[in-house]
Amino acid sequence: MNFISLLQKWYKINKRLLPWRETLSPYNIWISEIIFQQTRINQGYEYYLNFIQRFPNVKVLANASEDEVLNSWQGLGYYSRAHNLHFTAKYIVNELNGIFPNSYHEIIKLKGIGKYTAAAIASISFNEKVPALDGNAFRVYSRVFGSEKDISKNSTFTYFFDLIKPLMPENPGDFNQAIMDFGSMVCTPLHPKCDQCIIQEECLAYTNNLQNVLPIKSSSVKIKEENIHYAYLFCKDLTLIKKRNNNSIWKGLYEFPLFDQNFKNYQIIHNHQIKHKLSHRLLTITISEIEIDENDFYQVAHKINAIILNKNNLKSYAFPKPMENFLFYN
Ligand code: ADE
Ligand code: SF4
Repeated sequence: MNFISLLQKWYKINKRLLPWRETLSPYNIWISEIIFQQTRINQGYEYYLNFIQRFPNVKVLANASEDEVLNSWQGLGYYSRAHNLHFTAKYIVNELNGIFPNSYHEIIKLKGIGKYTAAAIASISFNEKVPALDGNAFRVYSRVFGSEKDISKNSTFTYFFDLIKPLMPENPGDFNQAIMDFGSMVCTPLHPKCDQCIIQEECLAYTNNLQNVLPIKSSSVKIKEENIHYAYLFCKDLTLIKKRNNNSIWKGLYEFPLFDQNFKNYQIIHNHQIKHKLSHRLLTITISEIEIDENDFYQVAHKINAIILNKNNLKSYAFPKPMENFLFYN
């Protein structure tokens, strides 16, 4: 039996039952793909259910406020995903009559939707035969086809896209999802379960004992180091935060005031240091705790235009992931 039929056979038995697999609604599939592209199923499962409950269709999402959308994303990180969901929902409602586009080439034009996500939605919701290529799929295909092509190159994307597209069976959405499940359950990054693998005899990596070598991936991204210094001011139960409104990372989220000359004369009770890795940066975040008397507190708040709030209310604001960890999971 060939690789495609074997995989289909495997999926029939091992398919994971997931809520977004009970629907063909492109809205639901879109939300699930955006969440699960960068978040593990276990970690994102409740978020998906809550998101769909809170924003059951594109119109509700389009009409929600930025803060509502960002709040629903608290804990997931990579908030640009939430911004893009909101932007695209408004675009679909205002420019496309509320109708989700129904082909790969139209879907991929939407903000926040790349080649992988467009293919996942087009195949699952509209039965279009397009391979959804993410890290999982590249790994499985590189191994099965014994490819030593560098999967971080664009040319390798085109190579696999053109290779897999004509092989796709009648239910391309199931096929793409079979690859996802197979990649996370059997053909795993470390220690693939080759001895229990139904595809073994069709797999060139296995035949040539290359399963621990493939896929080939050059590390291409340069990591920049960056320091951020915050002042965590408090006066009794009160503290100060500000909304980020610039266009870099974390736009629209809340944070402590940046530590600048306004704070240099106060005594620091404690410096907390947090390392946080983003895809292209390594952040070193210092949070200086400062206790300050009532007079100064209000004066500083006014001067730096900060929001005054009770510490118990911090949970109502969406913070960048590292600050969220600091505040709520410490
Ligand atoms: N990861 C990303 N999309 C997924 C899906 N549709 N099913 C399972 N895991 C996924
Ligand atoms: Fe992956 Fe091993 Fe199966 Fe090949 S034999 S598809 S490397 S699990």
